[in-house]
Amino acid sequence: MNCIFEARKSEFNFMHDISQYQDFFIDYLKKQNIHKEPVNLYEPIEYILGLGGKRIRPVLTLMAAEVFDTDYSVALPAAMAVEVFHNFSLVHDDIMDDAPLRRGQVTVHEKWNLNTGILSGDAMLILAYQYFEQFEPNVFRNLAKLFSKTALEVCEGQQWDVDFETRKDVTIPEYLKMIEYKTAVLVAAAMKMGAIVAKTSENEADLIYDFGLNLGLAFQLQDDYLDAFGDPETFGKQVGGDIIENKKTYLYLKALEFSSKEKASELEQLFTLQLEDNTEKIETAKAIFNESGASKATQDAIEVYTLKAFETLEKMEINAEKKNVLRTFGENLMGRKV
Ligand code: IPE
Ligand code: IPE
Ligand code: MG
Ligand code: MG
Ligand code: MG
Repeated sequence: MNCIFEARKSEFNFMHDISQYQDFFIDYLKKQNIHKEPVNLYEPIEYILGLGGKRIRPVLTLMAAEVFDTDYSVALPAAMAVEVFHNFSLVHDDIMDDAPLRRGQVTVHEKWNLNTGILSGDAMLILAYQYFEQFEPNVFRNLAKLFSKTALEVCEGQQWDVDFETRKDVTIPEYLKMIEYKTAVLVAAAMKMGAIVAKTSENEADLIYDFGLNLGLAFQLQDDYLDAFGDPETFGKQVGGDIIENKKTYLYLKALEFSSKEKASELEQLFTLQLEDNTEKIETAKAIFNESGASKATQDAIEVYTLKAFETLEKMEINAEKKNVLRTFGENLMGRKV
């Protein structure tokens, strides 16, 4: 049975579409038994994982496995590890960013408390690792090695992100390094995990990592853009959160670069403030982002990194249908509103 399926698969180079990968992952997620005691440790984990989200990273893991001719189902535990890790990073990120909203609902540390956010987050990090135990020793080792490297880089990126809040001299290259570490490496690793599970060549695995890395950079640039200009009705996070927290985003850095001396110092001054009521701060910052051309520059950069990802695709030894599925994914990401 399995054999026949394998033969058919390579004959037709079969791939599912993006919404099918999403469904496969959600079905698998629902089957996981997370509910245990103590309730105050596991309930927040169920809560955050159940809030949804786009499920981009697990979809990429499943998709990558099939790009390299391996049934998506083999990659499900790796996809789960990536999503659980991502959700862990969100719980801790929301503490660090003092964020009230996540996926349209109250954040874990606000719904419960700070300690719950810390410990449930820690438990999620460990749970993520446990999913690798389902793989044979060689695959386990490769997955764990990539995962450890990635997780440490995410911590480094997050530390830079926080350090930059109180710095006035952040450069664009520093910003790009920061978003590569806090966001892009996980998108890249999610894809490489699919490649590892599929036991593809090192060269192809590195190429898909590279594809994911550029897509991840575009993704974080878009996240920064939406943080300021997203629709509060649908965005699911506090619009203007980055401005409130004095985050040195691409929007901010480009606005400084493009503005007159006076406007630039007004913006710089604005981004030292910590206020009770942020309405005016947000409006002023957004107006400067738009008038200076920083909004346009951010949109352009999103396109540049997406196209860079597509260039990597051309170097890969996979057929046109597979390249198309990956390209469609990138195009969809570029057009996203949440
Ligand atoms: C949010 O990631 C954190 C970033 C790295 C920008 P997503 O935008 O993928 O969040 P969900 O999982 O869809 O909610
Ligand atoms: C998130 O960056 C990166 C990680 C969670 C590691 P952000 O702080 O921009 O993510 P959101 O906007 O809160 O989702
Ligand atoms: Mg955040
Ligand atoms: Mg953050
Ligand atoms: Mg953000």
